[in-house]
Amino acid sequence: MCRAASSITRPPSSAGGAVSGVGIGLRSPHLKEVLQTQPDVPWFEILADNHSAPGGRIVAELEQIRAHYPITFHCVGMSLGSVDPLDWDYLRNLKTMMAHYQPAWVSDHLCFTHLGGEHYHDLLPLPYTEEALQHLSSRIAQVQDFLGERLLVENVSSYVSYAHSTLSEAEFLGALCERADCDLLLDVNNIYVSAFNHGFSATAFLDAVPLERVREVHLAGYEDKGHYLLDAHNHAVYEPVWSLFSDLARRAPHIPALIEWDNDIPSLQVLMEEAGKAASIVRIHETATA
Ligand SMILES: [Fe+2]
Repeated sequence: MCRAASSITRPPSSAGGAVSGVGIGLRSPHLKEVLQTQPDVPWFEILADNHSAPGGRIVAELEQIRAHYPITFHCVGMSLGSVDPLDWDYLRNLKTMMAHYQPAWVSDHLCFTHLGGEHYHDLLPLPYTEEALQHLSSRIAQVQDFLGERLLVENVSSYVSYAHSTLSEAEFLGALCERADCDLLLDVNNIYVSAFNHGFSATAFLDAVPLERVREVHLAGYEDKGHYLLDAHNHAVYEPVWSLFSDLARRAPHIPALIEWDNDIPSLQVLMEEAGKAASIVRIHETATA
């Protein structure tokens, strides 16, 4: 039986109001339009690292977004898997932002982004071993204890694997949830990309991961590089990813989903159409289970 890495029991946060349905990752080209037109989007995910500077126009705009929509915070800077010390300045700033904007929850990735003081502009994967599990569980528990609520930890796309891994990624995620008492952000595109790149079954991944711990789902587009897939976030969601999302929605139609698009960003209308497609898939499964 696994033991939580902290004795503190943390209820999931709901400070930012109810987050449900299919939201959109808010990017700067759409900020003004969202503020002016207040489109019918159930919630927005905010890249917290892009809004961490105090004061100024960015703060004012985010305050206005928050006045009209539930939001969540998505981070890339915790470097949860690193062996560098935790960045307490980063976490203190995040905690201040959480108190101010009241996001429904905060997420970051199962990866490391800095090592030996060097920052890498990528989400680098970890080996799936007992040692990594212990290390990561302890770090996540420390962060959660400091922030006062559970984190959502997201599976990343990967292009290399470690020969000494002893667990599958899905097994690792399940053990991590139990050990660190954290929740999951399941990126369906990342599952598909990693499954293609490493030759595992995406369906078996869904079978193995603890769906009761999944509080958010990401959808995005990849780039087909021929012999591998790149998690490029520069395209509409591809059909195999919709199919995997439909499988997930059949199993758990209540989980909020989100459209991510970070490069070659299209109009807000296109993102809303993608969100509408995801919502229609969820509705089919909700109706089937009603
Ligand atoms: Fe994602």
